[in-house]
Formats: sequence, structure tokens, C-alpha cells
Amino acid sequence: MPSRTVPAPQSIFEKSRPGRIGANIPHCDTPEVDLEAVLGSRRKSLRLPEIGELDAIRHFTNLSQINYGIETGFYPLGSCTMKYNPKINEKTAGLTGFAYSHPLQPAATVAGNLEILCRVQEILEAITGFDHICLQPVAGAHGEMTCLMLIKAYHESRGEGDQRRFILVPDSAHGTNPASAARCGYDVKHVPTDADGNTDLTALEELLDNTVAGIMLTNPSTLGLFEPNIEKICRMIHDVGGLVFCDGANMNAMVGTTRPGDHGFDCMHLNLHKTFSTPHGGGGPGCGAIGLMGHLEPFLPKPVVRRGTDGQVKLDEDRPQSIGRVSSFYGQFLMEVRAYTYLMAYGKERMANISRFSVLNANYVRARLKDVLPPAHDRPCMHECILTAEKYKREYGVRALDISKRLIDYGFHPPTNYFPLIVPECLMIEPTETESKETLDAFCDAMIAICHEAETNPDVLHDAPTSQVVGRLDETKAVKDLDVNWFGQAAS
Ligand SMILES: Cc1ncc(COP(=O)(O)O)c(C=O)c1O
Repeated sequence: MPSRTVPAPQSIFEKSRPGRIGANIPHCDTPEVDLEAVLGSRRKSLRLPEIGELDAIRHFTNLSQINYGIETGFYPLGSCTMKYNPKINEKTAGLTGFAYSHPLQPAATVAGNLEILCRVQEILEAITGFDHICLQPVAGAHGEMTCLMLIKAYHESRGEGDQRRFILVPDSAHGTNPASAARCGYDVKHVPTDADGNTDLTALEELLDNTVAGIMLTNPSTLGLFEPNIEKICRMIHDVGGLVFCDGANMNAMVGTTRPGDHGFDCMHLNLHKTFSTPHGGGGPGCGAIGLMGHLEPFLPKPVVRRGTDGQVKLDEDRPQSIGRVSSFYGQFLMEVRAYTYLMAYGKERMANISRFSVLNANYVRARLKDVLPPAHDRPCMHECILTAEKYKREYGVRALDISKRLIDYGFHPPTNYFPLIVPECLMIEPTETESKETLDAFCDAMIAICHEAETNPDVLHDAPTSQVVGRLDETKAVKDLDVNWFGQAAS
């Protein structure tokens, strides 16, 4: 095991000393209770750490400083759009009127909040080209599932619910796509990708018949490529009575430049926590807003937030064909406030800069790295570039994962590894539009230096990272056997 340059921090329990206290607890002014008598053998020590205030402050400050985030460094995690979330978003989300309103308040007392929801819907309708936007889903995967529920409700309303059993999913798709289809009771058929990185139209043709409920297409695809046959694919699916869902996690490549609603899609999901700069959170809270065309409107989750002819925003509960609620209340309201702030701060005129600069930055990285890490497909990319480290595996026994781990020692967050699954030794780099040329150059210099190390001293990559408080983790164990309980670990 290589030696690490940073000592592992102690847990707060190891710093605990009996009797040490960090707070002035007020004198008890209620009658004392004999807990022993009340609880008997059920009485257990809470095992709280006993520690002074200064040591507690230092402990948590130091822990916060070994965390890595977009505000500490470059975070090119492909497919996740780790752009900077402007601070003004937080300021507006913290305004008392928004932060302290309660979802059970009568609608008439939260007219301003409803107005925000409606405005976000209207702006996203304009950006995507869809007839309707719904903000209820709370994650991208949740948005996918909601769209499939709409597709299912649509087929059922036409008496074709039983017949249409299959959802087509490209082999490059994010894992949530087949999972969402399965959650909705569909069987999944995979559509292969052709040698150019596009949907294989011949293979698609062979899968088409009246059992197809729809297709889930990611555009730009997870290969970072714009699907040139998108209109044709939509027509092919529509011709057999299926519907087309767009996985819009990659909307950052299209904002202000092109609209999926104009490409022939019937519905899509958006990740507000990617494209529209709301925080990703630790698995949430996010917002997987969905867009849909008029023929899916009757099935929208309820209540529908809608501007009436009098200009007032209302909650429409009278929706007999609705699929029902998909989340409590109206989704993650404060995320919508953040997204609204972002949209207004950008403004309509500058909106296209998001996609222009994110595409430019990804192509810059691609061009700078192409001699050491060839792109999976030899054509310009969209907002992320997909590179392969196959050569290093073949010739030096160095894998994409080793390159990523070594990048940590150079002070950068690794890109996404091994996704999409169809690219061997895949590195998926998404710089986003918020990074400067200097940062991109520093990152590319580090990647080039690491590739050189892979040829001359591969073990330095195998052993990485050595600059962190933990070394190389067992990734499988971390996923399958997660144990974040210090007492549990101490006992085992
Ligand atoms: C292409 C793609 N689709 C869907 C999702 C799912 O989004 P979420 O993680 O918000 O559920 C992701 C997430 O990374 C993604 O990259």
C-alpha cells in the first residue's frame, strides 16, 4: 500500500474526553425524573461525543475543507453538468416570503409563489418548444418515469395499453432509462449504436411494430453527439403509433440554440439541477421538470399550475384523466425559485451563450487531449467529450479509473468513468460553460502529464490517489456494503 501524504482525520468520537463540554446548558427548571426508574433496562447511553466548543468547530471546519465541490475546483463529471450555481440563486431562495411559506397554506395566500411556478413553466416552454411544462418530478429519473406514465396513459386511453408492451432504449442510454421503463411495467428492447455513434436506423426499423409504446432517446446522446437523424427517428416511431421521449439531461448543449419540441419529440424531462443551475444535492432535492405536447396534456400530474384568462395563476385539480400526483405538493419549490433567478439573470438574449460556450469548452478539451486520449468518435462533440484510454490499458495495464484516480492527486475532480458502457475505457468529460480557458488548460496539462506517467511509471497511477485522507477505495464494497456508522466500523 503506498504511503499517503495526508493523515486520516480522527472521528469526533475519538476526540471525545469524559466530562468535556462545549455548551452552557441552562439550569434545569423542571422537576427531575429518575430515568432509571422510567426506562429501566431500556436506558442506554446516547454515546454523544464530549468535546469543547473550539475543538468541535475545528473538527467540522477541517472536515469541510477536505470536501471537494464546484466551489473548490474543476468538476468535469460528464453527464452531470457541474456548472457553477450563482450565489444570487441562494439569496432569492432564502427570501422570507419563499422560504417560510408552507405548502398547506391556502392557494390565495401564496399567489406570488404560484406566479413563480407559472413563470418558470412559461420560460421552459419557450426554451424547449413544448406545449406544457410540469415541475412536480424531483429528479431526472423521476421525470423520465413521469413521462413514461404519460405515454402509458395515452396508449391506455386509446385502448392500446395491453398491446404496447415495449420501450426501445439505445445501448448508450443512462441506466435510469431502462429502469424507468421497467418501473412503468414495460419490457425494454435495446437499440444499437452504429459505427458513427448514431442510432442504428436499420436495427431500429427491425424493432418497429405495433407493440412498441415508445422510444427513450437522449439528445445529444451520452456519446456527446447530436443525433442527426432525430426527425427521421421520430417519424419512424410515430408511423407505428409509438411516442418519443427525449432524455433532456443534456439540454445544456441546446439551450437557446435549438428546441427539442421542434424535433418531433412528444415529451422530455429536464434536469433543472444540471442545466438551470440548481444544486444537485446529495441525491436530491433536484427537479426533473417535464415538457409535453398537447396530446399528452389530459394526463398531466395534478394539480396543474395554470394561468387563467384573468392573468391569475390557479391550481387546477379538476383533471379526470390525470395520472395523479407524482410528488408531494408541487415539487421542490425553492429549486424553482433558484432556476427562475438563473433564467432571469441570464435573460433571453444571452441564453444561447450557455450552449455555445459549453459546446466550445468541450471541443477545446477534446482538441487538446486528442493525441493522448482519442475521442470515441472522430467528429465534433457537443457539451461533453467522450475519450478512450484503451491504448493505456492494452500497452501499460493502466485503466481509465487509474487515470481518474491520479487526477485527484493533481487537484481535479475526475471525469465520469465507464459511461456510456459501449465505449471501452471510457472517460466522459463535461467542462460546462462556466469554466475559464486557464482552468481548462490546467486540467488538460494535468491529463497530458498523467498519460505520460502511464507510459513511464504506470504504478504511480495504480497507487493513486496518495494525496488524500483516504487512498484507493474498494468501489464495489463502497456501493454494495456502505457503512457510514463509526460505531459500526469500530465494532467490526
Ligand atoms: C443522461 C442522463 N439521463 C438521466 C439522468 C438521471 O438524472 P437524475 O440523476 O437527476 O435522476 C442522468 C443523471 O446523471 C443522466 O446523465
